[in-house]
Amino acid sequence: MKFDVNHALTWITKANEKIQDNKDYLTSLDQAIGDGDHGINMSRGFKETVAKLSENDYVTVSDVWKDAAMTLMSKVGGASGPLFGTAFLKMSMASKGEEAIDYPIFIKAVEEAVEGVKQRGKATEGEKTMIDVWSPVVKKLQEASDFNAELIRDTAKTAMEATSDLVATKGRAAYLKERSKGHLDPGSVSSYYIFDALADSLEEGA
Ligand SMILES: Nc1ncnc2c1ncn2[C@@H]1O[C@H](COP(=O)(O)OP(=O)(O)OP(=O)(O)O)[C@@H](O)[C@H]1O
Ligand SMILES: [Mg+2]
Repeated sequence: MKFDVNHALTWITKANEKIQDNKDYLTSLDQAIGDGDHGINMSRGFKETVAKLSENDYVTVSDVWKDAAMTLMSKVGGASGPLFGTAFLKMSMASKGEEAIDYPIFIKAVEEAVEGVKQRGKATEGEKTMIDVWSPVVKKLQEASDFNAELIRDTAKTAMEATSDLVATKGRAAYLKERSKGHLDPGSVSSYYIFDALADSLEEGA
């Protein structure tokens, strides 16, 4: 199987649906350990991204990801906008010129997305950020030999749930130190929706 433009568009459409459905939940998570804007940020950014993608006929996955990246960077706001934007931009760069993407290129794209987020956020694994979902997903992708929707969904879900036990050392949640424990990281929960949506797109295309 190859990941094509339809998969890429379905991915964003489904991610948007999940984020809109859970806007208030994401906000409540960010109210607990941040400033309470994550649901609003993500809802606005993904709505604008879906609108942007509907304006064009895309030939390459790379171009879908590039427009998604640009829209997320400019419309999500907060710390997470540039970070999600960077993730999609790195995926776009890693897959440039390919109409549809085979599994090794897909892995490379997500690997570079994680590296980009780490650099941009000056963060690494274990700091209670979205990296704690993206990084375990990349590791599982590397271990597998082909696209596997269930593996992606399950890995992202387990990793998202595990952020509750972590102490935040990056972002606003870091001010709470030990008190950030016992709460899910908002950006990890939205990252889970993004990977759940990716899994949906793989299943629909099958
Ligand atoms: N340095 C960082 N590296 C990676 N991810 C980060 C970093 N800082 C914050 N995040 C992620 O962004 C999420 C918060 O996004 P939000 O849209 O609420 O922006 P924000 O309110 O400006 O962020 P924050 O208050 O955490 O600085 C966090 O839950 C976390 O997953
Ligand atoms: Mg916030």
